[in-house]
Amino acid sequence: MSMRIGILGSGLMGGKLGTIWARAGHEVIFSYARSEEKLKKLARDAKGKARPGTPREAAQDADALLLAVHWSRFDDVLKQAGDLSGKVIVTCSLPMNADDTDLVIAHTSSGAEELAKKVPTARVVSAFGTVPSEVLFDVYEAKRKTGRPSLLYCGDDKKAKAVAVELIRDTGFDPVDAGPLRIARYTEPFTLLIARLAYEGKGGPELAYRFERF
Ligand SMILES: NC(=O)c1ccc[n+]([C@@H]2O[C@H](COP(=O)([O-])OP(=O)(O)OC[C@H]3O[C@@H](n4cnc5c(N)ncnc54)[C@H](OP(=O)(O)O)[C@@H]3O)[C@@H](O)[C@H]2O)c1
Repeated sequence: MSMRIGILGSGLMGGKLGTIWARAGHEVIFSYARSEEKLKKLARDAKGKARPGTPREAAQDADALLLAVHWSRFDDVLKQAGDLSGKVIVTCSLPMNADDTDLVIAHTSSGAEELAKKVPTARVVSAFGTVPSEVLFDVYEAKRKTGRPSLLYCGDDKKAKAVAVELIRDTGFDPVDAGPLRIARYTEPFTLLIARLAYEGKGGPELAYRFERF
C-alpha cells in the first residue's frame, strides 16, 4: 500500500530512508534540514513521488512520520511539526549527548519513551535506530534475496507497528517485533554496540546487519 510519509530530519538517516521509500512507491516529504536547497535536491534525486516541505507540511495527512534528528533538536522539530495527534511516528533517533559519545538516557527509559511522553497523543514506534545509514541502500538493493537481515522494532500501538512493519519490509529488512515501547531502553544501548562494531571494529558497517534471525 502506498503511504504518505513525512521525514522530520533529512540528514543521513532521513535522507536515505526517505529516498528508499520514495523509490518503493511512497509519497515522501523531506523536511527539516538547514537548507531548502538540500531538501529540494533530496526530493529531485529520490526520483519517486518526493518533494520538499516544512515539518508542518510533512506532518499534515501523513500516514507515517520518520523522526531522524539529534536529541537536542527534538523539541524544535516537534514544535515546527504542530499537532501530531494520532500520527504514527517511527523514530530512529537516539538520546545522544552533544558530541555523540554517550546516551543521556538509558536503562530506566529511552529516547523513544521520552518522545512518547512529549507527544502523548501520537503513536510512537522505535525502529531503524540499530542500522548504520551506510548500509541502507545496499539492503534495499538486495531486498529480493532470501535471508533478509533482521531489524528490531518496538511500540505500544498495534496499528502503528503494522505501519512500521511495512516500512521495514520496503527497506529490505525482516521485521522482528521486540515488544512494547519500553524495550527501546534496551535496543538503544544495543545500537551503541552496533556503532562500535561498524565504525571502530574491523568489519565496517556491513557487520551491523549480520544479526540474522536463527
Ligand atoms: N547516521 C546513522 O547511522 C544513525 C544510525 C542510527 C541512529 N541514528 C540516529 O538518528 C538520528 C539522526 O541521525 P543522522 O545521522 O541522520 O543525523 P544528521 O545527518 O545530522 O541529520 C539530522 C538532520 O537534522 C537537521 N538539523 C540539525 N539542526 C537543524 C536546525 N537547527 N534546523 C533545521 N534542521 C536541522 C540536519 O540538517 P542538515 O542536513 O542541514 O545538516 C539534518 O538534516 C540521530 O538521533 C542519530 O543518533 C543515526
